[in-house]
Amino acid sequence: MKQATIILDKDYRISRIDDRLYGSFIEHLGRAVYGGIYEPGHPLADESGFRTDVIDAVKKLGVPIVRYPGGNFVSGFAWEDSVGPVEQRPKRLDLAWFTTETNEVGLHEFSRWAQKAGAEMMYAINLGTRGPEQARDVVEYANHPGGSRFSDLRIANGQKDPFGIKVWCLGNEMDGPWQMGRKTAYEYGRIANESAKMMKWVDPSIEVVACGSSSSEMPTFGSWELEMLEECYENIDYVSLHRYYGNPTGDTPGFLARTMDMDDFIHSVTSICDAVKGKKHSKKQVNLSFDEWNVWYHSRQQDEEIWKREKWDRALPLLEDIYNFEDALLVGSMLITLLRNADRVKIACLAQLVNVIAPIMTRTGGGCWAQTIYYPFMHASRYGRGTSLKAIVKSPVYDCSDYESVPVVDTAAVLTDDGGVTVFCVNRDLTEDCLVDLDLRSFGDLQMKEHLVLHHDDVKAVNTEEEPNNVIPSTLLVTRIENGRAQIKLPALSWNVLRFS
Ligand code: AHR
Repeated sequence: MKQATIILDKDYRISRIDDRLYGSFIEHLGRAVYGGIYEPGHPLADESGFRTDVIDAVKKLGVPIVRYPGGNFVSGFAWEDSVGPVEQRPKRLDLAWFTTETNEVGLHEFSRWAQKAGAEMMYAINLGTRGPEQARDVVEYANHPGGSRFSDLRIANGQKDPFGIKVWCLGNEMDGPWQMGRKTAYEYGRIANESAKMMKWVDPSIEVVACGSSSSEMPTFGSWELEMLEECYENIDYVSLHRYYGNPTGDTPGFLARTMDMDDFIHSVTSICDAVKGKKHSKKQVNLSFDEWNVWYHSRQQDEEIWKREKWDRALPLLEDIYNFEDALLVGSMLITLLRNADRVKIACLAQLVNVIAPIMTRTGGGCWAQTIYYPFMHASRYGRGTSLKAIVKSPVYDCSDYESVPVVDTAAVLTDDGGVTVFCVNRDLTEDCLVDLDLRSFGDLQMKEHLVLHHDDVKAVNTEEEPNNVIPSTLLVTRIENGRAQIKLPALSWNVLRFS
């Protein structure tokens, strides 16, 4: 058996964890909206057509904020198409996903859904084919109390009180050649600055997220952030990061080490923000919004085939990744990485939430079930709120295709507001358990109250509608704490939640 040590101290604090670290994302893409959250006529649909089984599954995840309506979709979207009487809303060709958007669900309907799901909305504006004028108009529509063209239109459309949307994304992945209205860093920085300025003049209480690179693998990564921040630093609050990983070659050790890249990505963007701050002699700190992260690769081939057959249908079954057990382990490590960087990452959105690269799946007309990745997210969202602690970890390491010295035990720790401690660990070792000597002496009298574990003997095991409980968490016996120390066994290839009170 391998051995590791983890030392925690109540005074070694990284930062307060922003609850919005457990955000998610719903895009008008595939069956996320139509056939996902919204399916009038489904036996479990409510009076507004929202699936209550999906709402229940979202509520169990405790998602505090949901990014909407895109994604790539937003770069060709006209927000006005999505408000007013539903029967008068236009059908539009969505050039991001080669689908017909019917606009049956729009701003008002989504706001109602988010309320039912217990989440606030993070609203993305179109800076691809549109600009600052439409950006200020939609803020006026959503957030201004009344007495102006767009706020009065909102009231006429049945919503007296402002929606009060606090966080706004200034476009989406504007560096990507696939994006409608792609821009250079300078062009984007200018339009983001002018939009942010005008949006905040309408509602000074909002926060805005500027687009960083669409991945750390973009050739312009780094220079994009530097150049666009030169133009908009003083008017924006966050820079976005997006990152998806995959394991197309079946290299599990290499796949599970991908969070080394995620960590580097976060540190690089933080450094660039701070470099611009220094150069501008600014007093303001720009933080990070990791507003798209997940595993994404299983469905790519299938999507190509769907588009060959049936472009322009409504709600094509796109990006329907079926997640396996190793994906859940990487998602667990991604959450651990976000927690360890909670001093700078204030918002994060698991992309996405329902059917589209999602923890929750539905069958149109049928059931709703949780994918493997649902569980680490649910655990972190439930037990990972409070203050992120700096764990001092001594772990065995391994080398893999892209990284050397990858810790076998990946760890984050949280001091919860009731004085308890949660330790999240992934044991990345394929075959060996690891015995962890956990030092909790500084906390005084703690008892271990739960050891949750997610493990399956087959890394490719999945959950399906027929077999929804194939990969689900179980509990292990709790360990006695003696003299402030506990010896805890982490099974080979496992996600662990160690809870102390
Ligand atoms: O989440 C799916 C897509 O991935 C989003 O629309 C886009 O922003 C990213 O490329």
